[in-house]
Amino acid sequence: MQRLLTVFIPAFTRVLPALACAGLLVTGASAAGDQPSVPYVPTPQAVVDRMLAMAKVTAQDYLIDLGSGDGRIVVTAAKKFGARGFGVDLNPVRIDEANTNARKAGVTDKVAFYQRNLFETDLSDATVITMYLLPRVNLQLRPKLLELKPGTRLVSHDFDMGDWKPDASVRMDAGDKFSGAGGDSDVYFWVVPAKVAGNWRSQFPVSGKPQTYEFQFEQQYQMVSGSVQVNGRPVKILDAKLRGAELAFSFTAEVNGTPVKHEFSGRVDGGRITGQAALSGSRLTARVEWIAERAVRAAGLEARN
Ligand SMILES: C[S@@+](CC[C@H](N)C(=O)[O-])C[C@H]1O[C@@H](n2cnc3c(N)ncnc32)[C@H](O)[C@@H]1O
Repeated sequence: MQRLLTVFIPAFTRVLPALACAGLLVTGASAAGDQPSVPYVPTPQAVVDRMLAMAKVTAQDYLIDLGSGDGRIVVTAAKKFGARGFGVDLNPVRIDEANTNARKAGVTDKVAFYQRNLFETDLSDATVITMYLLPRVNLQLRPKLLELKPGTRLVSHDFDMGDWKPDASVRMDAGDKFSGAGGDSDVYFWVVPAKVAGNWRSQFPVSGKPQTYEFQFEQQYQMVSGSVQVNGRPVKILDAKLRGAELAFSFTAEVNGTPVKHEFSGRVDGGRITGQAALSGSRLTARVEWIAERAVRAAGLEARN
């Protein structure tokens, strides 16, 4: 119990007496390996509803709740939206409760609950991942989450992901939080970004002449910046936006002697970006298809030299 208290963060510690009275603390999972204990504290139903709304869960989704408690997030996603998915929890009592709740809700054909360590769970099928853990656990999970399919949506109750800033967040009043003690709840939302950092090359005809674009992107999570060389001249990339695999950016560069605004959008798929570019200048308006390939060979040669 003492160890549990020392890893617990201040927001939780303010309501520890209420939790202890409700008998919730003693049911928390014990630490797995060097991972901190995460006590069982259920997410209020209004917060569950907001989490699923933020992730825009639909019947096409496969949702995984990490540390699923009594299964309320997975069960609500199935009952309300027809989503499929599963939850994992270390505590067998929670797994029993979750299975009972799934039966009561009539969603056993859509959901399952496994007694399993969340750090040893394959997350690759997920389109949505939900969690109500602890800040340190979120940070331990972060590298694994960043390796998921670009576009996978993540929602966390109360705890953020350090310097990986959320794409959206909301603070709401949760009257029935902490067994009725009440309090605010924060909900954080992220979309796993594609990996775009590095060098890319694209070539397509503009006014009948082939133009070569050499992009260099820097990336921190979903934040992207960079430059592009057009006919050997470097230009800064503006307004870069990356959401999952969808990338958009613009720049103005000289083409055939006149400035042309370039607005690119495309979808990143491994080492290839495919999309459209809108070009507009005093002597030119065009919409073209573009493909960029990762400049792997050039990078490899540089690395050897
Ligand atoms: C704060 S509760 C959240 C329960 C539920 N997701 C909700 O929001 O209502 C955290 C849950 O994570 C479980 N847990 C803690 N560490 C875990 C681990 N390493 N693997 C799986 N479950 C874990 C605990 O047993 C507890 O039920």
